[in-house]
Amino acid sequence: MDTNERISRYYQDYKADMEAARIAERKGNLEGARKLYRQAARSLCEMASLESGETRKERTLHAEQILAKAESLGKTAVPAAAAPAASAGTAPARGAQRNAAGGTADGNPWQSEGIPATTFDDVVGMEDVKQLIRTRVIDQIKYPELYDRYGLKGGTGVLLFGLPGTGKTTIARAIAHEIGAPLFTVKLSDVLSKWVGESEKLISQLFDKARETPTSLIFFDDFDSLGMERQDDGNHNNKIIVELINQMDGFRQNTNTIILLAATNRPWMIDSALMRPGRFEHHIYVPLAGHEARIRLVKKNLGSVPTEPGLDYDRISDLLAGYNGADIVSVVGSAKLAAVQRAKETMIAQGQQGDSPVTFADFADAAAAHRSSVKPDDIVRMKKYAAQRGIALPDEM
Ligand SMILES: Nc1ncnc2c1ncn2[C@@H]1O[C@H](COP(=O)(O)OP(=O)(O)OP(=O)(O)O)[C@@H](O)[C@H]1O
Ligand SMILES: [Mg+2]
Repeated sequence: MDTNERISRYYQDYKADMEAARIAERKGNLEGARKLYRQAARSLCEMASLESGETRKERTLHAEQILAKAESLGKTAVPAAAAPAASAGTAPARGAQRNAAGGTADGNPWQSEGIPATTFDDVVGMEDVKQLIRTRVIDQIKYPELYDRYGLKGGTGVLLFGLPGTGKTTIARAIAHEIGAPLFTVKLSDVLSKWVGESEKLISQLFDKARETPTSLIFFDDFDSLGMERQDDGNHNNKIIVELINQMDGFRQNTNTIILLAATNRPWMIDSALMRPGRFEHHIYVPLAGHEARIRLVKKNLGSVPTEPGLDYDRISDLLAGYNGADIVSVVGSAKLAAVQRAKETMIAQGQQGDSPVTFADFADAAAAHRSSVKPDDIVRMKKYAAQRGIALPDEM
């Protein structure tokens, strides 16, 4: 069996186990569901071991989320994704056609991933962003009567924008956790995958599915590709945008609360009709990590590995000025790798295991080898966009 066949087999197992787990969960068989979710996570890990790059990262992350869900079964008050009664108890055949988001046999291809395990505490720094999110998003869920009284029910969409790798996707996941809402992540690839010609129907099905639970969060990730400025060439995005606008203008009449979030690092690409009042009206800028946040990101990613005594985190943070969070994760990984290599050499030479601490020099080498991926052009473009919309950006971006 070649690698692709093996991946495909694990994928089929994963889908079947997830489906069976959801059914078991719905029927209240939590022990059975837990076992099936764990099996599904194992299949994802097997797939990740055969894959590379982003796919591998996403797969591993997804496996972690499923494991977290398995462990939390019976402990959370909010059920993950309440499924329609019609599909309860009908396990679709293995390999039945469903979409990348893991749809079900009720004809609606959307399925939430449940409540993510990522919390606000996992998001380093961004105190201002978190505060804005509390007032714009979280409080309306926490204090619905108050918001009702002031005629603010339903809120509007929030667009998170910022340079690449600054934690936009991470904070969106954390928001779903903080409000205890099942998360629907929507990317252009999901919408366009197998459903060429009916992408607008997919958008309405998405909102239908989201309405099945009292509160849910629809997150349009990399929104620039999905909501790109309309061209008059009849492309799919046109239909998607029209349907998205229809849904956004109509959804607040419903009693259920759907929180709409989007993230982008190219906000200027998004169709301006999507940014009008009542739609993605609120823009929140997600900044690069400042000095203290960089230190915390370094420490968080070092975890409990041994470091040289008196390791100077201030100087490390200075080395990483202008780096985004994704770069910092990468630099810490390289610094750790250098220490591991030394430990390995010692082990081979002396025949015994010994730790080699991560040093400042490891960070200096790693930072020199991994330049910041934030491009000066991106910064210029972002400043121009913010100025046009009258949004003040922090000095340090
Ligand atoms: N403030 C932060 N706190 C915790 N982790 C962070 C932070 N910023 C970045 N990261 C880490 O950096 C990586 C990239 O983050 P994420 O994918 O959320 O960024 P993004 O802004 O969505 O990027 P893109 O614009 O490329 O979509 C992840 O591993 C994430 O955990
Ligand atoms: Mg992202």
